[in-house]
Amino acid sequence: MDIREVGVVGLGTMGAGIAEVFARAGLRVTAVEADAGTLSAGVSLLDRSLRKLVSRGRLTQDEYAEIAGRVRPGPAIATLSGADLVIEVVPEQLAVKRAVISELDQVLRPSAIIATNTSSLSVTSIAAGSAHPGRVPGMHFFNPAPVMRLVEVVTTVLTEPATAAAVTALATRLGKTPVLVNDRAGFVANALLLPYLNHAARLFETKHATRDDIDLAVTAGIGLPMGPLALLDLIGLDTSVAILEVLAREFGGTRYAPAPLLRRLTDAGRTGRKSGAGFYEYSEERPGGPARPPDEDHADLSPVPGTVTLIDPPAGAGAGPHSDRAAELASQIAAAGISVTRNPAHATELVIVAIGPEGGVLGPATAAGRAADAVGLHLPVPGLGSGTAGQSPGLAELVRSPLTSDRALAAAGALVARLGMRVVRSADRPGLLVGALLFAHLRDAIAMVADGYTTPEGVDTAMTLGCGYPRGPMRLLADAGPQEAVRVLGAMHRGYGDPAFAPPPLLRDYAAGGQPVPGGTGT
Ligand code: CAA
Repeated sequence: MDIREVGVVGLGTMGAGIAEVFARAGLRVTAVEADAGTLSAGVSLLDRSLRKLVSRGRLTQDEYAEIAGRVRPGPAIATLSGADLVIEVVPEQLAVKRAVISELDQVLRPSAIIATNTSSLSVTSIAAGSAHPGRVPGMHFFNPAPVMRLVEVVTTVLTEPATAAAVTALATRLGKTPVLVNDRAGFVANALLLPYLNHAARLFETKHATRDDIDLAVTAGIGLPMGPLALLDLIGLDTSVAILEVLAREFGGTRYAPAPLLRRLTDAGRTGRKSGAGFYEYSEERPGGPARPPDEDHADLSPVPGTVTLIDPPAGAGAGPHSDRAAELASQIAAAGISVTRNPAHATELVIVAIGPEGGVLGPATAAGRAADAVGLHLPVPGLGSGTAGQSPGLAELVRSPLTSDRALAAAGALVARLGMRVVRSADRPGLLVGALLFAHLRDAIAMVADGYTTPEGVDTAMTLGCGYPRGPMRLLADAGPQEAVRVLGAMHRGYGDPAFAPPPLLRDYAAGGQPVPGGTGT
């Protein structure tokens, strides 16, 4: 099917981005929005995005004029009669989408495709309301649409093969990578992304860590392009709650029940970037980023301690790589010119407990009689935070017990900064911060593969192309080590009693060497 003329219904952030993608690929676009204010806001969003490309030297003035000239704003669906394909990007309410689709049914040629960009609703339910359900597939773009390369092409039991083929070919023509998926809540990418973002919101609301530390743990500790709270602001908190509600209905369990804070912020109108505030605040001058950038490196004003006691993890708790890391840490501290002792009886300014990802500062600190002076230190899986750039400094997790003094925590921050590492602070809970977020996320990916919904390659493609991950979850699992994943998830499962953290059989199999983690070997 030859698609030359397209329509976009709904000109919010996603609609405007999708219209831009179509126009840049040479298609004539009619952008429809019934609300005049939203229509002109959407058109200027698109125009600003194109002008940015000109200012960055990515487009010439002539190309800009040509692309902008292909976009025709339309006040009503009636203006779409000549379209070969129309994509609806209206609010995520089944009744609203169905009303749009039946209006389109009246206006379009019977052979035209009506795609839905729904991120959460059942494509089957949307399609079933059309007079031509076989020509109503899902075409799910990612935000920002001009940048993210994935398009999930969602087929239902009703989809005609020719329609799926036409949409797949169109996505390729747009410069995107189409991935065919069946109609299931969240498809691949959102079903993995949203529970992880929800988990981050819950860690924030339960004071596990600060907003900036949560986001830094993910960017510097795992190498993802954005922290989860900043990403929630980008997606929109209201949209995120809507997707989570659908996932919760379909799958149940604590991973999907929206964190109460997400609802509170949504109710307060703090829905993220689009409203000017969410977890962060956004200003007119910096529409693309927080008004106050995250306080990344905690400028620690505390003096670097001159003497430090380093306590090994208790026997059994930290056997293996972590006790090796404690020895390595001791030599790093000494190399930085700080006097370090392993003898708990020596009087020093600071006590560092070299804990594993299970946590547990208080026991060894109390046994040494130094509870107020003791801070846990954990170096989460080294190397993950470097992403593809390869060259980022290591990240240290500093862990305070309920008895740790502010002075000790500040001194530990200064010590770690002297060692050239970045710092996040975590409550003393199983998984700490990086491990809790990372391994629970990887667990969801493994469970999806074990379910047979997608393949390991499908998971990695979705998250690298849809969410900009430098390496996908299966590759992250291979690099972090499946044994480490079992260890951290096991601690979280025991600590919280939540089956959502139980290491799944397929992961145990990878960890036991029963089979290699797919996609992770030899690269
Ligand atoms: N529109 C158009 N282009 C944009 C843009 C926008 N809103 N935001 C950034 N860009 C472009 C920039 O112009 C820049 O292009 P060039 O390199 O060609 O000049 C490029 O993207 C990189 O941008 P920046 O240098 O400003 O910023 P960055 O390197 O920090 O990247 C980012 C920004 C692309 C958003 C990156 O942080 C990222 O990939 N984040 C993850 C986003 C993500 O996960 N999206 C999926 C969300 S889930 C979803 O959308 C599905 C759903 O249903 C909810």
